[in-house]
Amino acid sequence: MDGNIVLCGFMGCGKTSVGKRAAKLMNRKFCDLDQYIERKEGLKVSQIFERFGEAGFREREAAAVREIAEKTNMVVACGGGTVLFPDNVQAFHAGKGTILYLDVPLPALQERLKGDRKRPLLQKPNRRKVIAELYEQRCPLYQAAADLTVEAGAPACVVAKRIAEAFL
Ligand code: S3P
Repeated sequence: MDGNIVLCGFMGCGKTSVGKRAAKLMNRKFCDLDQYIERKEGLKVSQIFERFGEAGFREREAAAVREIAEKTNMVVACGGGTVLFPDNVQAFHAGKGTILYLDVPLPALQERLKGDRKRPLLQKPNRRKVIAELYEQRCPLYQAAADLTVEAGAPACVVAKRIAEAFL
């Protein structure tokens, strides 16, 4: 039984698309934390933000992390904010998970996120500035939370292969 491989990083860094592919290559189950929360609540992440605010979302996210961290042998895609909270990092580590930071440079993230219509934190005026400020605040926290940083600007299948090879 192996600990989970937990993917963290900024919105749009490819946690879900890389995670799905890596799980397949490594013959592990895949779990997307946001989708897990959506299924449990019967609501989309955007609806949870609308009804309960960001704080309400973070409570539900922390509860989901505690549940998933107890499982083994999975690839887990976090949300962009998950590992900013030390309790979540601790829960993954307590479950013997390895946290990987998918590092994508800011210009590539700006490009990937420019047309986004679903992420609640980005539905604001001057999106480029919002993204740049969040990126600056969050990068050191991703690095601190992660056991390993993976350069992730390449296509998802290439990054997934890199991850699978690192765990052979
Ligand atoms: C968030 C990122 C989202 C989702 C929520 C909050 C964040 O996940 O969890 O909207 O704080 O960065 P993705 O990174 O998958 O978009």
